[in-house]
Amino acid sequence: MLKIPAELNRNAKSVQDMGEPADTGAMLIDYMCARIGIDDLAGLDVLDLGCGVRFSESILNRDTPIGTYTGIEVKKKIVDFLIEHVRDPRLSYFHADLKNLCYNPRGTADYADLSEVLNHKRYDIACMFSVITHQQPDEASATFQFLNRHIKPDGHMFFSAFLHQDGPEHKELNPAKPGIKSSFSSGYIEKMLAGSGWSIVSRADPVPNDVPIMWSYLCRPET
Ligand SMILES: C[S@@+](CC[C@H](N)C(=O)[O-])C[C@H]1O[C@@H](n2cnc3c(N)ncnc32)[C@H](O)[C@@H]1O
Repeated sequence: MLKIPAELNRNAKSVQDMGEPADTGAMLIDYMCARIGIDDLAGLDVLDLGCGVRFSESILNRDTPIGTYTGIEVKKKIVDFLIEHVRDPRLSYFHADLKNLCYNPRGTADYADLSEVLNHKRYDIACMFSVITHQQPDEASATFQFLNRHIKPDGHMFFSAFLHQDGPEHKELNPAKPGIKSSFSSGYIEKMLAGSGWSIVSRADPVPNDVPIMWSYLCRPET
């Protein structure tokens, strides 16, 4: 059993109130698989950008099938903890000192550095849960481009986002705390995806069948 200290949980209180992280994580993994049209993640290589700790808890404490799981985090404390406590060879973790207004304002690394760290490996699935929800437009665009360079030709990218229909391309839903809730117009995020080499497979509204997720996109690399 992986036991995570409370201070390393990165989910909003409203998400934490929905249940054990291992359980909400397992629900999200099941939902992502259903959207892709697969039973589970058995045999697949998964890259989780902004991994936090939750999916590690789901995989290890709920026996969620997985091929390999690579978690990337800007919070070094999280990565140090996971490297020290997770002994399962299927799971690996990397720290990335990427700049993010909300979580890592003094970050200095860029995605080229991270590609080197990952040895330019390509994955079956790249996912981001509650990560684009904290990114500025330039950052989101760079993130989509980075993941496009790390996806297999028949792979998928899945992520959640805050969307709005009308108004500016990007807005902060809590202007007093930029990056806490960053929202994009659907037109703008879809333009960014196309410009980063992604085709949209499907888009879903928030909380589908009580799954704790905001709007979500499933994409595949353009051929
Ligand atoms: C709200 S938490 C979600 C954690 C996890 N995905 C989950 O659903 O439980 C967002 C996480 O993304 C990380 N993060 C933000 N921007 C990032 C980036 N550019 N690269 C890697 N991690 C990032 C934060 O440090 C934080 O742990």
